[in-house]
Amino acid sequence: MLQRNTEELVRRLAVALRGIDLYSPTHPLVQRGIDALSATVLDALREAPSIVIGLIGDEIVVDAVRLPRGTATLIGFARDLREREIEKITFTQGLTREEIRSFVTFLGDREARIPLADRLTTRGVRHIALGKIVVEDVTDDQVGIAAARRVYTTAVETAESLWQAAQAGDQPDTGAARKIIDGLARMVTQDRTSLMALTTLKKYDNYTFTHMVNVSALAMAQARALNIEGTLLREFGFAALMHDIGKVHTPLEVLNKPDKLTTEEFEIMKRHVVDGAHILRRTPEMPALAPIVAFEHHLKQDLSGYPEKIGNRRLNLCTMIVSVADVFDALRSNRPYRQGLATTRIRAIMGEQGNPAFNQVLLKRFVNLMGLFPVGNLVRLSTEELGVVTAEHPTDPFRPQVKIIVDAEGETLEEPLLANTWERDSRGEHPRAVIEAVDPESVGIDPLKYM
Ligand SMILES: [Fe+2]
Ligand SMILES: [Fe+2]
Repeated sequence: MLQRNTEELVRRLAVALRGIDLYSPTHPLVQRGIDALSATVLDALREAPSIVIGLIGDEIVVDAVRLPRGTATLIGFARDLREREIEKITFTQGLTREEIRSFVTFLGDREARIPLADRLTTRGVRHIALGKIVVEDVTDDQVGIAAARRVYTTAVETAESLWQAAQAGDQPDTGAARKIIDGLARMVTQDRTSLMALTTLKKYDNYTFTHMVNVSALAMAQARALNIEGTLLREFGFAALMHDIGKVHTPLEVLNKPDKLTTEEFEIMKRHVVDGAHILRRTPEMPALAPIVAFEHHLKQDLSGYPEKIGNRRLNLCTMIVSVADVFDALRSNRPYRQGLATTRIRAIMGEQGNPAFNQVLLKRFVNLMGLFPVGNLVRLSTEELGVVTAEHPTDPFRPQVKIIVDAEGETLEEPLLANTWERDSRGEHPRAVIEAVDPESVGIDPLKYM
């Protein structure tokens, strides 16, 4: 965007906000302000996927370019944002005039108790996100593996209650689902490492519910890495959480069958995509994305999956992201018919000859995101020691940092030993290398204890 246009955009936003502060939402001056703002924003969004207005100190920054200081309007605007504790406003493509109107009107209502971001969500404003530039004040009990575990455990419990409601024919409680999503979205933004470590655990036996939460977390992590945030990020999380909800109608003997399904049984299994879309479509306050993703998540990139014969269509971006997370989590988990696979194996299977099932670009990004040996994985070293991956090397996925907890003789160390497997000894060799991932169950170790 040209700087002139940028300034004009911010100026119009400032004018619109001042208008709503002074007059009622229906006042012609307010409407004119909203019209002027809409024209500029929508115009700018034709050229860029998003526009980010940020406040850093007293400076206003648009798409990382600082605006010249000066006019009273801009100074007042900066002060206003600070008072409202807004440090960042993101407009994304798809934005409508109606959304801009809701946004400006909401900002005028200073008395409201509910946080602005939540009110935007409930009013369906999806293409404007409010945020802070610095990570929100994080207290110690909100980060780290213990905090992540709390969020995760609550999420799995809530997922179970959503499932049961749907199974009983009731409408799943979207409020409860939203709480899950908020917790996971916060983790994805503030402490992705801990959350990802939890999703790679295999020891849980309640697959149905951990699968819901894992797919949601893995989908949001991918979306976040694509710079999707705010309301849209949460909608992705929502859709991912509910992708398999249609399975509440799948008979248990089909759902949990340890052997290969017969053709007939597979036909029954396939119904969960249509059933899911149906349940989600009639659930109030469910984002419109959710039934779409439920319907599409087994279609595959080349439409060779199911439902069959649905004609030509392009999969939604969220569906592509969810499909990657879905298959990854299914292969990684212990199932009645096989042990969970190591990340290296999964990666090979999903990437095979540019597997047409997945969007290969997204898959590649996902693999990079997860690492070869994700944090929290238990691994065996070339020295026969066992350790937990505590950090990834920024460029070399084969050489993470590992906390060694069992020595070469199989004795548990009293003091775990931190080792950087990328370091070389005096002869220029690597004394330790990661050989393989180890199933923590098989050796009775809880790797997360050591993070
Ligand atoms: Fe499914
Ligand atoms: Fe699934």
